[in-house]
Amino acid sequence: MKHKGIILAGGSGTRLYPITVGVSKQLLPIYNKPMIYYPLSVLMLAGIREIAIITAPEDRAQFERALGDGAQWGVSLTYIVQPRPEGLAQAYLLAEDFLAGAPSAMVLGDNLFFGHGLPELLKRADAQEGGTVFGYHVADPQRYGVLDFAPDRSVRAIVEKPADPPSNYAVTGLYFLDGSAPVRAAKIRPSARGELEIADLLNDYLRDGGLTVETMGRGYAWLDTGTHASLLDAGNFVRSLEERQGLQAGCPEEIAYAAGWIDLDALRARADAVAKSSYGAYLARLVREAEGRR
Ligand code: TTP
Repeated sequence: MKHKGIILAGGSGTRLYPITVGVSKQLLPIYNKPMIYYPLSVLMLAGIREIAIITAPEDRAQFERALGDGAQWGVSLTYIVQPRPEGLAQAYLLAEDFLAGAPSAMVLGDNLFFGHGLPELLKRADAQEGGTVFGYHVADPQRYGVLDFAPDRSVRAIVEKPADPPSNYAVTGLYFLDGSAPVRAAKIRPSARGELEIADLLNDYLRDGGLTVETMGRGYAWLDTGTHASLLDAGNFVRSLEERQGLQAGCPEEIAYAAGWIDLDALRARADAVAKSSYGAYLARLVREAEGRR
């Protein structure tokens, strides 16, 4: 493991108004757990234990209450405030001291990833030099940063929210970038909408050959949860999956225990702390299985 983690959980959530007038989007439920558990789990599956959470000023205390210092999951959580939502690339400026030259994996706090082989995909990206991002085929590319492929299928540019998309491949909200990201981000000027665009940062990497673009195939689910309908759809997706399998998606305790970052006593303490919910019942089952009883 070499990357530090960043979860970008600021923003204004205007597409979810009036829900997000009083609460951060990333603390809303996706079925049985707060949204941020899912991107947190992705970083943990990548083997990352040192993680900064970037929040809006008014939401910081609530995130700290919800997640604490991370010790319950064997990780270290640091909180950084973003005074105003001035773009995804701004995260690298805000996190510069936290990163202290280290490479980083940044995940958007409202993105949900699921699929067989995800841990291996993440660990490959963790081992890669330079930057790695993931392209995913979507029906509505104009809502995202879109990959523009050259005839030889190499990526020549990433185009932010194009009216006429050059492909159906969106760049997902998960960016593995080397230690040069803050310096590169400092060169970017705000776009017409007043944001430091992640596409500009990624294009800077592309220009000097420093970006690997991996495709996340159709066996993966990449959901974003930024509208009323997509929020409900994501919740239903998780519920269907979990009820069918009897296994949870995005359960940090399970990942931490499997990785050996917390011991059985710590897992038991977490199960007791949330005992009355079905989430707690799941943790209690993990404890029983670890003890060798069903
Ligand atoms: P968006 O969904 O683009 O923006 P938003 O969350 O503010 O929502 P809306 O469009 O409804 O107003 O943001 C993607 C993710 O990045 C989301 O998890 C919020 C986060 N974000 C920040 O933390 N800081 C920022 O400056 C921006 C633009 C987004």
